[in-house]
Amino acid sequence: MKICVVGSGYVGLVSGTCFADLGNDVICVDIDQNRVDMLNSGKVPIFEPGLDHLFLKNKDEGRLRFSSDIAEGIRHGEAIFIGVGTPEGEDHRADLSAVRAVAKSIGEHINGYKVVVNKSTVPVGTGDMVRQIVQENMKEQHEFDVVSNPEFLREGSAVYDFKNPDRVIVGTDSERAKEVMERLYKSVTRTTQPLMFTDIKSAEIIKYASNSMLATRISFMNMLACLCEKEGADITQVSKGMGLDRRIGPKFLHAGIGYGGSCFPKDVQALTMTLEDKGCDAALMRAVTGVNKAQRDRVTPTVREALGGLQDKKVAVWGIAFKPKTDDIREAPAIDIIRAIEADGGKVNAYDPEAQTNAKRHLPNVDFFETPYDALAGVDALIICTEWDDFRNLDIHRMKSLMNQPVLYDGRNIYSKKEMKEAGFTYFSIGRGGQ
Ligand SMILES: NC(=O)c1ccc[n+]([C@@H]2O[C@H](COP(=O)([O-])OP(=O)(O)OC[C@H]3O[C@@H](n4cnc5c(N)ncnc54)[C@H](O)[C@@H]3O)[C@@H](O)[C@H]2O)c1
Repeated sequence: MKICVVGSGYVGLVSGTCFADLGNDVICVDIDQNRVDMLNSGKVPIFEPGLDHLFLKNKDEGRLRFSSDIAEGIRHGEAIFIGVGTPEGEDHRADLSAVRAVAKSIGEHINGYKVVVNKSTVPVGTGDMVRQIVQENMKEQHEFDVVSNPEFLREGSAVYDFKNPDRVIVGTDSERAKEVMERLYKSVTRTTQPLMFTDIKSAEIIKYASNSMLATRISFMNMLACLCEKEGADITQVSKGMGLDRRIGPKFLHAGIGYGGSCFPKDVQALTMTLEDKGCDAALMRAVTGVNKAQRDRVTPTVREALGGLQDKKVAVWGIAFKPKTDDIREAPAIDIIRAIEADGGKVNAYDPEAQTNAKRHLPNVDFFETPYDALAGVDALIICTEWDDFRNLDIHRMKSLMNQPVLYDGRNIYSKKEMKEAGFTYFSIGRGGQ
């Protein structure tokens, strides 16, 4: 099938590449000419395991092309996927300006029947808006359908997730569009990984509801982490004990310095605003955001107190990415923590296995190092912000010997508290009271 994917970021590029790998003829469009040039020259602008290989294979075999000419993409695609960003706007609502712009272009360049598939995360009712904008901007009259097909891939395992989804949600009110979507997805869905058809609005809500539920689990555990610290209990044991209950399950029950990234923070905020706009109570969502912010806000004061102030102190930060296996630093707790240290007069040495190129653009005063050990030379404290596997089995005695003061804030609970204390660290972690 001929497909156009508008927006060639984490979602658009991965979806476009995977659709091409299933034999489709794909044009990915992006407004960012640099990104398009890079992609056309064979370079993948993001780090995503497995993507490079698939990208080059499908590009070389002629099934995957890139363009900044949206008209070309729209004329090409029988299905046009909208995968542009929907960031948090100043009023905390989802900023839909890019979605609107794409819908307008679709209206202007439509040249036959199209299925307009919204893959971006958008508030309930956006499908109607897209339909109206396409209709209003049509120069030639053609039939089209609007479909909601929210994306659930996770950065760090995006290719795997796209090819092995727990489910594919398709919201549509058209039999014709349903057939197109069935054809597109039949090779990635199975009995256990169903293609679920819903109405458009339910599909839109499913995406926000899923992300907000996961964020709620994280904030719930962080709330309990406080109680564990006060009472000398261990949140990792509490989480394990809860997760063994099959009604609850073990995932997204980890206490830490909170969630970040380009999705959870903005999606919880957007759902909050939608609920309130529609006259529903959003207190639970507001609490989820509040707990999450408090988790990252308490890191710097703890380190400041341990060091007797941060003026002229040097602090190492390991992990800038908002989670392991990605180079994405959007809304990463590390960014706020580094800025707070710098605001208090401290200097930061940083290390991240994949996110350093992105981080350098946002953190001009930070010194970046090539290994985690290098970043520790002469520092007064170490803060671990991302649970990269690279950090789990390092030589803790060597770590200590490199540091000026052995103060360690383990924001992801990756080390044994007992072991770190025995090694002589002043060790802080999340929700692990007692010994
Ligand atoms: N990143 C994730 O893990 C993830 C997962 C599921 C859903 N989503 C949702 O998918 C959407 C895209 O997210 P992303 O992380 O891929 O964003 P991204 O910022 O990585 O990519 C968006 C791309 O769209 C391009 N763009 C913006 N306006 C455009 C326009 N008018 N025409 C053409 N291109 C345009 C940008 O240049 C950029 O390359 C968002 O709604 C997001 O919430 C993201």
